[in-house]
Parts: sequence; C-alpha cells; structure tokens
Amino acid sequence: MSIIKDARALRPSHIPSDLYHRDAKIRQLADALRPIMDGDIGQNTLIFGPSGTGKTTLAKFVVQELEAETLDFRWGYHNCISGSSKSEVLFGVMRDAGLGASLRKTGSPTSSFLNRLRESDKRVVAIIDEVDVLEHDTALQALIDLDNVTVVAITIDEDDFFTHLDSRMRSRLRSAEPIRLERFTHIQLVDIL
Ligand SMILES: Nc1ncnc2c1ncn2[C@@H]1O[C@H](COP(=O)(O)OP(=O)(O)OP(=O)(O)O)[C@@H](O)[C@H]1O
Ligand SMILES: [Mg+2]
Repeated sequence: MSIIKDARALRPSHIPSDLYHRDAKIRQLADALRPIMDGDIGQNTLIFGPSGTGKTTLAKFVVQELEAETLDFRWGYHNCISGSSKSEVLFGVMRDAGLGASLRKTGSPTSSFLNRLRESDKRVVAIIDEVDVLEHDTALQALIDLDNVTVVAITIDEDDFFTHLDSRMRSRLRSAEPIRLERFTHIQLVDIL
C-alpha cells in the first residue's frame, strides 16, 4: 500500500481538489472576495505563513471555487520571483487575467498594463505571490489604487512585510484582511498524505 495517496500532493503548481484543515481560512478569504460577485468592492487580503503552509494553494483554490460559482470577475496570478519590477508585476497580472491581448511585455509602457486592468469589463482579483522579493511597493500601490481591483498579497513574514512598506501603503494595508496560516501538525500531515 502506498503511503502517499497522491504523488502530486507536494508539488506546488498542483492545486488539490480539496484542501485539508483549512476550512476557516477558506471561508475567511472567500468572505473577503465574495462582495465582488455582488458587484461590490472586495476586501484586499494579506496571506502570511511559513513556507509550505499552503498560502499559494489557498489563494488559487478560493478564486477557482468562486469562479465555479460565477463568471462575473477575472483573476490574475503573478509570482514576483518570476519578475519583480513594477512593469513585470502589472504585465503578469494583466496577462494572466486574460487582458493582455496584443500587448507586448517589452516596448509597451507600464501605464498600458495598468490601463488594461482599469478598463477591464469585469472586476479583477490580483494575486501577488512572494511580495517580499518586490523591488519596491509601487506595483502593489498601483494595483490597490485601482477601484476595480482587489489585491491578495502573499508573503511569509507579516512584520517584515509591514516594515518594508512606505507609510501611505502601510496605513492602507492595515485595514486589509490578514489571513495567517500555521504549519500543519504532524497528525494533519499524516492525514493529507
Ligand atoms: N490544505 C491543504 N491540503 C492538502 N494539501 C495542501 C494544502 N495546502 C497546501 N497543500 C499542498 O502543500 C504544498 C505546499 O503548499 P503551497 O505551495 O501552497 O505553500 P506555500 O505556503 O505557498 O509555500 P511557499 O511559501 O514556499 O510558497 C503543495 O503541494 C500543496 O498542494
Ligand atoms: Mg507559495
């Protein structure tokens, strides 16, 4: 008998069809985003927790679940490790949200990426992963300043995150919904694998 029921379970790009032991966190994120489905503004959210606690998985899982309920929004995911400049972040989100038709990454001004997001036919959820590697917080700032965009920012350390924000962003993001993930206990891990 195999101990590992699903060999893909620990591969980060794979989103499990069911998340274990995260019901409260799933609800917390879904509640922050659900107003978008009713034509309202979603709540910006910050996801914190050590590596491997399922931050990326949680964010993708919840937007996919909401997407199954309604097609009334778009979402774009960008991992800052694959591009940490303002231009790369905005391009990444825009393209992943399906708004990048005919826009090229190089040679296009950053403002054109921002305009595509602003002019989106539907509201946009922007998942920005590993924000600790951002060169500065202007990309986050630009996204948060767009009325039709709700930001889900992901990083490991909460104190470190707030320390590196400029003061305007710090006060803006103090009102964001914090979702704190803890390590799975040994018993939970046995259950997952
Ligand atoms: N609730 C869960 N139930 C089952 N498997 C999970 C759950 N959460 C995460 N996983 C699995 O655990 C692994 C780690 O999750 P994930 O990559 O989302 O963690 P992370 O917090 O984003 O880590 P990092 O900070 O290194 O990016 C993935 O393979 C994912 O499929
Ligand atoms: Mg991750």
